[in-house]
Amino acid sequence: MIHRRQATRNRTGWTSTVPNELSELFIAFSASAAGPVLDIGAAFGVATIPALAAGAIVLANDSDPGHLAELAGLTPPEFRPRLRLLPGRFPGDLELPAQSLAAVHASNVLHFLTSGELEAGFQKIADWLEPGGRLFVQAGTPYQQPFAAFVPVYEARAATGEAWPGWVEDTRAISTHKKLHQIPQSLHLLDEAVLSRLVRSAGLRIERLWTYRRHDLPRSMHLDGREGVALVAYT
Ligand SMILES: C[S@@+](CC[C@H](N)C(=O)[O-])C[C@H]1O[C@@H](n2cnc3c(N)ncnc32)[C@H](O)[C@@H]1O
Repeated sequence: MIHRRQATRNRTGWTSTVPNELSELFIAFSASAAGPVLDIGAAFGVATIPALAAGAIVLANDSDPGHLAELAGLTPPEFRPRLRLLPGRFPGDLELPAQSLAAVHASNVLHFLTSGELEAGFQKIADWLEPGGRLFVQAGTPYQQPFAAFVPVYEARAATGEAWPGWVEDTRAISTHKKLHQIPQSLHLLDEAVLSRLVRSAGLRIERLWTYRRHDLPRSMHLDGREGVALVAYT
């Protein structure tokens, strides 16, 4: 399989052209979902379009309406009646009925949220999921080559019990990666402890939580095999 990445239009990193392992779990779950599923930060549809192909009704969200326009253009016409576009920034701009979703997918988007947005966002997701619904999250950890200089800072913060040890105020101060202009100034690198606390405070339960190297991660990001953190949670 050839893995490529595509730059986002709004400098929020890159999206993949193939679903990562966590997105594959969301797509498989979508095949049997009776209710709609939500893809937060859908970009050009790397997970949305396969979920539509699996038969789901998909609400595709993105803060950049241009991404969603491209996604709609890439969606085969026969799937379009089951695609709903929800432009806006999660969590503030998104309002959905309680217990209206079978699944929520957030892959490589939670890094762009502050601590307050993460807490509000997990509460919203817990409210939107129907009983038995699932949350699928993939996020980058501090253990990525461009952020290697930040690892000791992160580990010291985590050791002293800081609540948000992966918050990077200024990526330019901790990395000299040549493509930093393609990511925002501040970034929220995540880990198992923070995700598990967010899940539990929102009243969700953890089904699986693990670190790994996703198969579509560019070689230049490889550090030690813990580059990504993935979560499956349920109501
Ligand atoms: C790095 S891409 C990831 C895309 C895709 N989910 C994937 O796994 O490859 C991040 C996407 O999230 C969108 N985004 C960033 N912050 C967002 C927010 N707060 N709410 C909704 N979308 C957001 C960006 O516009 C971009 O399309």
